[in-house]
Amino acid sequence: MLLSFLAVLASSCVRADPIDTFANVTVYDPGTASADVNYARTLNLPNNTVLATWSDFNEANATIPIYRSTNNGFSWYPLGIATSDDPGRRLLQPHLIYVNETFGEYDTGAVLLAVNAVDSKSTNIEIYASGDNGESWAFVSRVASGGPANTTNGATPVWEPFLLYHDHKVTVYYSDQRDAQHGQKLSHQTTQDDFDSWGSAIDDAAFQTYTDRPGMPTVAKLPNGQFIITFEYAQLLKNSSSNYTYPVYYKLATSPENFASEPAHKLVVDSGAKPNAGPYVTWTSYGGVNGTIVVSDSDSNPVYINQALGQGTWKELKTTAGRAYSREVQVPDNDNTKLRFAGGAEFEQETPSQILVTIMDLAKALGG
Ligand SMILES: *[C@@H]1O[C@H](CO)[C@@H](O)[C@H](O)[C@H]1NC(C)=O
Ligand SMILES: *[C@@H]1O[C@H](CO)[C@@H](O)[C@H](O)[C@H]1NC(C)=O
Ligand SMILES: *[C@@H]1O[C@H](CO)[C@@H](O)[C@H](O)[C@H]1NC(C)=O
Ligand SMILES: *[C@@H]1O[C@H](CO)[C@@H](O)[C@H](O)[C@H]1NC(C)=O
Ligand SMILES: *[C@@H]1O[C@H](CO)[C@@H](O)[C@H](O)[C@H]1NC(C)=O
Ligand SMILES: *[C@@H]1O[C@H](CO)[C@@H](O)[C@H](O)[C@H]1NC(C)=O
Ligand SMILES: *[C@@H]1O[C@H](CO)[C@@H](O)[C@H](O)[C@H]1NC(C)=O
Ligand SMILES: *[C@@H]1O[C@H](CO)[C@@H](O)[C@H](O)[C@H]1NC(C)=O
Repeated sequence: MLLSFLAVLASSCVRADPIDTFANVTVYDPGTASADVNYARTLNLPNNTVLATWSDFNEANATIPIYRSTNNGFSWYPLGIATSDDPGRRLLQPHLIYVNETFGEYDTGAVLLAVNAVDSKSTNIEIYASGDNGESWAFVSRVASGGPANTTNGATPVWEPFLLYHDHKVTVYYSDQRDAQHGQKLSHQTTQDDFDSWGSAIDDAAFQTYTDRPGMPTVAKLPNGQFIITFEYAQLLKNSSSNYTYPVYYKLATSPENFASEPAHKLVVDSGAKPNAGPYVTWTSYGGVNGTIVVSDSDSNPVYINQALGQGTWKELKTTAGRAYSREVQVPDNDNTKLRFAGGAEFEQETPSQILVTIMDLAKALGG
């Protein structure tokens, strides 16, 4: 009751100081055709500061750049860099969260970075932390290790970490090829109080058909206390031994540590659109009692929205942002009527690759 009252209050309240919209602001241009910058991620910090990060799949010694904007994403400058202490280990597939309580040895306000740390022999889900809002970084924890980067079923890497801070705990979700029963599955591990006490890996999505490859998990909290996890549910095309299709699926659960037993729903769009690959989910309080769940995929300009807490069909909403592999969609902290997109190159289309940010007017697009 209290929750839905708050949701009504939040959704009817258009902030007094709305932020400006713009499209395709360049965060970073590598200036070389050999770069493949993608996997852009952003983070709201207090004081209307926003961080951005990404990785370069073609860089031999990939480190993770952290850029900062203090004008809601309109302009950006380099702030920090996260580097592996292990020679030859490349940092890829970043994700950032802000921890607004003390955690481990960190005071309130630590920024955590999850990456896939890759070398010729292994893939590793690692956590780095910053106690100064993203300027300096230190390695804090290795959560999971797998075999070398290799997407063939039977190889044993780990991929694509996503962090969630909830109930005084840090959970990291990732794609996991280490289970001999599954070409790939989704797993998570959780720790409370410090970075040295990760629980064992728990399934989030593991399907009966060995060749199925659920991947690229992202999670958002909903106003009814549930959590949504979206993922690409890679399945072999009929009569093919190598060609996959990557439809977007999701699960809903009351605990973000308990998706395994929940059914997987296909994200069905009323226009007949078929969202494909590398989804990213967020939720905004704008858009009625339930707010709006927003999902981006890797292959489309539009996003897919749902105002019934994940029940029923989804609607397609055109955006002002371009397509990008694992394009991120977020809600600015200070304006729930806007969406922020961040993206780099499209899948397997390196040139040109830049990191671009767009602020779009969601309220206007919804006719509000
Ligand atoms: C926000 O700004 C205030 C005033 O400048 C400052 O005291 C505070 O430390 C800032 N908070 C963060 C998290 O940067
Ligand atoms: C990049 O990594 C390679 C192989 O690990 C190493 O030989 C080379 O010195 C590194 N280059 C730089 C600029 O660190
Ligand atoms: C931290 O953030 C969560 C979720 O936004 C919120 O519920 C909680 O009150 C915050 N805690 C503090 C100490 O600000
Ligand atoms: C990738 O993994 C498959 C399955 O284990 C293996 O057959 C193949 O040799 C690996 N590829 C490389 C380049 O190591
Ligand atoms: C797939 O293979 C089976 C058996 O060979 C065949 O009967 C069926 O028509 C094929 N389906 C398609 C879509 O090609
Ligand atoms: C795989 O997909 C590609 C591109 O759609 C197509 O050209 C190729 O024939 C397909 N191969 C198989 C074995 O289905
Ligand atoms: C809010 O979500 C509930 C649960 O799915 C649904 O029954 C209801 O119709 C939704 N309300 C609106 C205004 O869409
Ligand atoms: C932003 O760039 C993309 C191409 O990356 C393009 O499709 C889109 O129309 C641009 N948006 C605007 C508003 O110009």
